Amino acid sequence: MSKLYVEGNKSLNGNVIISGSKNAALPILFMSILTEEKVKISNVPNLTDINIALKLLIYLGVKIKYNKILYIDASSINIFYAPYHLIKKIRASIWILGPLLARFGKAKIFLPGGCKIGNRPVDLHLNGLIKLGATITLKNNCIDAYVKGRLQGKYIFMKRISVGATITIMSAATLAEGFTIIDNAAREPEIVDIAKFLNTLGANIIGAGSNKIYIKGVIKLNGGTHKIIPDRIETGTFLVAAAASQGLITCHETEPKHLNSILMKLTEAGAKIKTGKDWIQLDMRGKRPKSLHIHTSPYPGFPTDMQAQFALLNSISEGIGTITETIFDNRFIYTSELINMGAKIKVQNNNTIICHGIPKLTSSNVFCSDLRASATLILAGCIAVGLTIVHRTYHLIRGYELFPDKLNQLGADIKII
Ligand code: EPZ
Repeated sequence: MSKLYVEGNKSLNGNVIISGSKNAALPILFMSILTEEKVKISNVPNLTDINIALKLLIYLGVKIKYNKILYIDASSINIFYAPYHLIKKIRASIWILGPLLARFGKAKIFLPGGCKIGNRPVDLHLNGLIKLGATITLKNNCIDAYVKGRLQGKYIFMKRISVGATITIMSAATLAEGFTIIDNAAREPEIVDIAKFLNTLGANIIGAGSNKIYIKGVIKLNGGTHKIIPDRIETGTFLVAAAASQGLITCHETEPKHLNSILMKLTEAGAKIKTGKDWIQLDMRGKRPKSLHIHTSPYPGFPTDMQAQFALLNSISEGIGTITETIFDNRFIYTSELINMGAKIKVQNNNTIICHGIPKLTSSNVFCSDLRASATLILAGCIAVGLTIVHRTYHLIRGYELFPDKLNQLGADIKII
């Protein structure tokens, strides 16, 4: 899939099944390195990032079987170095480091790649592992880590809230000697899911989801079974699809309590929202949304991964909306593509955009820059006047499973070229 032809003027209506969370599944795959026993993981989304993660595990010597459920056997890992060509493809590859170090006392990986949404340092990951007793050297973009004996539990205050670094430290601490406290920890639902998975394997983690996580190290972990939580960002993306196209969409097999900040903003935009145990329905009742003021922040605040989708909503809303991005330092690249479609967006300073809502976007040739921007530009094509061609959609399949197919089932007309 490299480009999509997207017919405009669509109202999107119907039911959609939400896939497993990319940002829970990726770290949980790497966490399976921590145990020599077999693990079984269900509800893993079929994404290119997941496939790259599996290739990395296989390279290390992990045995993988997939038949709707992912069977992972990390008993015979015999390589503690991950190759450049795989590491560079996904940011998530940094999560190899903590588990290899905790279980084998050594690991060597290149600095990871990932979306071009700004500088992606890993200093918080490395500092956390050093605090736990690792010796880490960085040479020619390669991280070389080792520890004599076991890692040692410590009190660690995160000078900045980081999802990835919280996960790295939490995973390494499961096998460290003694207690670890992660203070000012990230609180994302994905971190709660990872802690649940590790506790299923016999780890001792309490407080995940709060800003203080307590881990009592154990000698080794067992096997176990786990089901990945639903993807809250995919859910939010389909709810924005309903709001922006003035339609009615019900998202099934999702978790409403993970979307409180998103649902609050969509209600403020004028949407009628109903929720049940595992479903969320958004009814825009054919109305144009009202403009919103959005300020991204760590969970439970408004998620940065929904920033682009809400910029689209503000672009066609009544009034003037603003979006301030506080997590990444370069996450507005996609706005130039929306401006090509007629959106009136101004970048006020490097982390705030102002959107003067217009009734309709016009079709154009647009180019994706990261996975959330890709979904946003496809939605923009669905509601614009005319045929929009969306290029570089390889970004999309990194994080959205069957996105064009799911949209077509909701009344879109998207052709994959
Ligand atoms: C995770 O990235 C997600 N990726 C991102 O989702 C998400 O946007 C982000 O968390 C914030 O919620 C995955 O889970 C694979 P951070 P991560 O560490 O862990 C800085 C998507 O679209 N920082 O919370 O990389 C960093 O530069 C992706 O699915 C350091 O300075 O995010 C950023 O400004 C995009 N040093 C801020 O902290 C570090 O060592 C938050 O980053 C680590 C991060």
